[in-house]
Amino acid sequence: MRLLFCCTDTNPEPWLAGIRQALPQATVELWESGAAPADLAVVWAPPQVFFDEQPGLRAVFNIGAGVDALLARRIAPSTLIVRLDDAGMAVQMAEYVCHAVIRHFREFDVYEAETKAGRWAFRKPRRREEFVVGVLGLGVLGTRVAQALRGFEFPVQGWSRGPKLIDGITTLDGAEGLHAMLAQCRVLVNLLPLTDDTRDILNRDTLSRLPPGAYLINVARGAHLVDEDLLALLDSGRLAGATLDVFRKEPLPDEHAFWRHPRITLTPHTSARTMRDESIAQIATKITALHRGEPIVGVVNRLRGY
Ligand SMILES: NC(=O)c1ccc[n+]([C@@H]2O[C@H](COP(=O)([O-])OP(=O)(O)OC[C@H]3O[C@@H](n4cnc5c(N)ncnc54)[C@H](OP(=O)(O)O)[C@@H]3O)[C@@H](O)[C@H]2O)c1
Repeated sequence: MRLLFCCTDTNPEPWLAGIRQALPQATVELWESGAAPADLAVVWAPPQVFFDEQPGLRAVFNIGAGVDALLARRIAPSTLIVRLDDAGMAVQMAEYVCHAVIRHFREFDVYEAETKAGRWAFRKPRRREEFVVGVLGLGVLGTRVAQALRGFEFPVQGWSRGPKLIDGITTLDGAEGLHAMLAQCRVLVNLLPLTDDTRDILNRDTLSRLPPGAYLINVARGAHLVDEDLLALLDSGRLAGATLDVFRKEPLPDEHAFWRHPRITLTPHTSARTMRDESIAQIATKITALHRGEPIVGVVNRLRGY
């Protein structure tokens, strides 16, 4: 078994050492142009030439959950594309989103400003039972986030492509389901994959369906959000604020209005980082299963785009 590692912006050495240890029977090499044909690959943002030179790959393992950038490459139809599922990301995403929701719900941002100004002042508590949090996308990450929010007793609604049953969560699907959910959410959390169907889904129309004063958390992909529409809705006071972890262009350009907006909190695409050891363990388990002819989870459906 021959495996190539082709990950841009990633220090390869610890990955190569970890994969070699987890798969001692495999020959594991760092890809360089002209490399001999391989059966398997571990990739992150590989160049097109990688796939052009390796048309015989049985499977490629993406070291992230989102495959939108990978699907923009021309990849042989016979190659399985496998994403990470969870591998240590779901708990981080739950932490990040719960932090952002609670910071807004409890107005900790306001308290921080007040106490910094030397003021001892209380705010009227908000009613949790009226504070519906909506989660777009009920996959590996969205489900974990929805359940974590339920742990704080927020009423949680979730939207997915097909119908779902999740204990304690009101689930909806389809366009009507989306509109019904948006009409109720005080906070909207986006955890959809980026596909042709979901690009620009956070726009003036959808965001205007939220109740006045609602709050947006985008932790999925920057191209889900129409930046100007969010800015207009924040500046008119229609939306209260936003926490954004992902952007159309990353790093976010210096001149972008999001940097300086008083009601936007931003982080540099860090809500759920790839955990090396967990990822290698998951990929090695899947490779062993494939080798035995067993089914694996996390195979990307190219037609759906996720
Ligand atoms: N910011 C970060 O650090 C970070 C880290 C990791 C991942 N992400 C992003 O998070 C995304 C979600 O990850 P995941 O692992 O939870 O993905 P996933 O398991 O594939 O789940 C995707 C969910 O979105 C739903 N969905 C897809 N297309 C839809 C549509 N057109 N309408 C309604 N629902 C739709 C799916 O519905 P069904 O259940 O019906 O299929 C599913 O519930 C990734 O694609 C990635 O972009 C961001």
